[in-house]
Amino acid sequence: MIVSVIGGGGLVGSCAAYALQCGGVVSGIDLIDANADKGRGEALDILHGTSIAADQRIRAGSYELIPESDIVVITAGLRRKPEESRLDLIGRNVELFQTILSSVKLAGLKRDAIVLVVSNPVDVLTYLATRQLGLPSNQVISLGTQLDSARFRSLIADALKLPPTQVTATILGEHGDSMVPIWSAAQAAGLPLDKFPGWTANTADALFAKTRGSGAEVIKLKGGAGFAVGLAIREVIHSIALDQKRILPVGSLVNGVYGMRDVCISVPSVIGRKGVESQIEIELSPKELSGLRNSAKVLRETIDMVLAKNPAANTSTSAAKPSTAVAPSHAVKVTMGSGGSTGSARVTISGQRGGGRNG
Ligand code: LAC
Repeated sequence: MIVSVIGGGGLVGSCAAYALQCGGVVSGIDLIDANADKGRGEALDILHGTSIAADQRIRAGSYELIPESDIVVITAGLRRKPEESRLDLIGRNVELFQTILSSVKLAGLKRDAIVLVVSNPVDVLTYLATRQLGLPSNQVISLGTQLDSARFRSLIADALKLPPTQVTATILGEHGDSMVPIWSAAQAAGLPLDKFPGWTANTADALFAKTRGSGAEVIKLKGGAGFAVGLAIREVIHSIALDQKRILPVGSLVNGVYGMRDVCISVPSVIGRKGVESQIEIELSPKELSGLRNSAKVLRETIDMVLAKNPAANTSTSAAKPSTAVAPSHAVKVTMGSGGSTGSARVTISGQRGGGRNG
């Protein structure tokens, strides 16, 4: 499996490439960067370590590498200033992103390629990629709240002195200010997090606030995130490469799940060789659900603004028609009863096979 990283000479792209090298799962890593020397430098540095790390082919190059890629990661883009929100970046990054999408299309993607978008504002840019790349929407993924969820778990573990890999907690919605912490399901070692010593409602609020501000905090301290985002990207790529079908909080086009339509937003998603193989609609608390829907609204408003301002971005190359708020859902819904007395374990699986925008 060959992974190409567009923006591979940058901090996020090079850290993702290094994380993939340490993982030793994919067979090739290609770095593409507008700054060709920087791309070549990062690739050379990684290549120097192959004799220690893994038998992988490392190359630097340009878009001519895209037709060989099984997974294309897009990390290129301008970085926000600490005081800017990710959505503020939109004006500056859309044009650049359009150029990247055109170059990728011109080079020609494999039919079963998966595109993972990391550039910000990630959910909005992923929506543009979904419309324009001509791939089925399940093959276009936003890193979404995968990084936020990783930060959340790590910070919870650090504060409560718990082993980080035993904390399970997730954040859904926008990778941005309206992200939603799913406290109702947070656990450590399979036990409810709110029963652990040191847990209080205030601690919870402070931990979420710290998580939400983490991106800006890292930008202020070291110029931008690298290591953790590299690992977050790797987890998604390995789940695709190994067809692990891990349930990850990443974004993709939703059309019906949690009642949301025609936005790319993070919901629990099964990630395998086909990309987003299904979206899982686990019952949330009313506050979480309204938070998630608010995220969808914020994102949809931004998408409308971007499409109005950028006529070029409004060109859909997929066979699908743009959906409306009342478009019928093509989701495959499977409801499993909990069998328990609480009745709160309803699971709806929304498959992304056939129909609609997934063509
Ligand atoms: C962050 C960037 C990667 O959250 O969006 O650090």
